[in-house]
Amino acid sequence: MNDKAPAPLLHDIDDYIERLFVPRDSGFEQALREAAEAGLPAIQVSPNQGKLLYLLAKLSGAHRVLEIGLLGGYSTMWLARAVGKSGRIVTLEIDERCVRVARKNLQRAKLLSRVEIRHGNAWVILQQMVRNGEPPFDLVFIDADKPSYSSYLDCALELTRPGSLILADNVIRNGDIALPRKGDEVVEGIKKFNKKLAANPKLEAILIPVVRQKIDGLAIARVKD
Ligand code: SAH
Ligand code: DHB
Ligand code: MG
Repeated sequence: MNDKAPAPLLHDIDDYIERLFVPRDSGFEQALREAAEAGLPAIQVSPNQGKLLYLLAKLSGAHRVLEIGLLGGYSTMWLARAVGKSGRIVTLEIDERCVRVARKNLQRAKLLSRVEIRHGNAWVILQQMVRNGEPPFDLVFIDADKPSYSSYLDCALELTRPGSLILADNVIRNGDIALPRKGDEVVEGIKKFNKKLAANPKLEAILIPVVRQKIDGLAIARVKD
């Protein structure tokens, strides 16, 4: 593990950006409170990252979004707001408790009609989706178990079209991915994913650092025309 702490200045900058560009929102705040009260871990995307997901979805004109890893529905709410009334988010979650909390949060935010929650193991559901010829998604956001990221990418490539975006959270892990020695299964899973993303000739991609408690990152890839 990398025990270097992120510079405090980065947090000050992140707070500054949040204060200016991500106004406080009672819908989001209540969703986070409910998730915490239900005992879910606070591992959702940061507010600034949520805004970035929202903007990427809007900039790409995404209408049909696939999310892998729902938790309490925080990132889902950002994406659901971005796709508008006629958009649709399909989100996959293995943990029934998360499904319950997220459904309540989305209902309260009046976003549940845009969101289809599929409860189960993402890998199983994704293979079914590929087999069943699910129509392509405009944007896929990968954010579930890290050792499976590389398999999720394979499915995402089957479930998208030229011009679609493939995004993934947690691709920097406080810089552990840049250490030369072998990491744990999470770090190794992410390293494998990042290499695959970079090397795939069908994709154009980049990783951007994201300030969280520790530094993490978002992968942004576009399926080539
Ligand atoms: N996208 C959320 C955070 C997701 S955290 C947000 O930013 O708000 C990761 C989630 O993936 C957890 O809720 C976990 O239960 C779920 N998960 C882990 N393994 C999974 C699997 N194999 N299939 C589906 N969901 C899984
Ligand atoms: C953690 C953070 C995440 O964003 C996630 O999807 C899974 C785990 C974590 O920090 O443990
Ligand atoms: Mg994550």
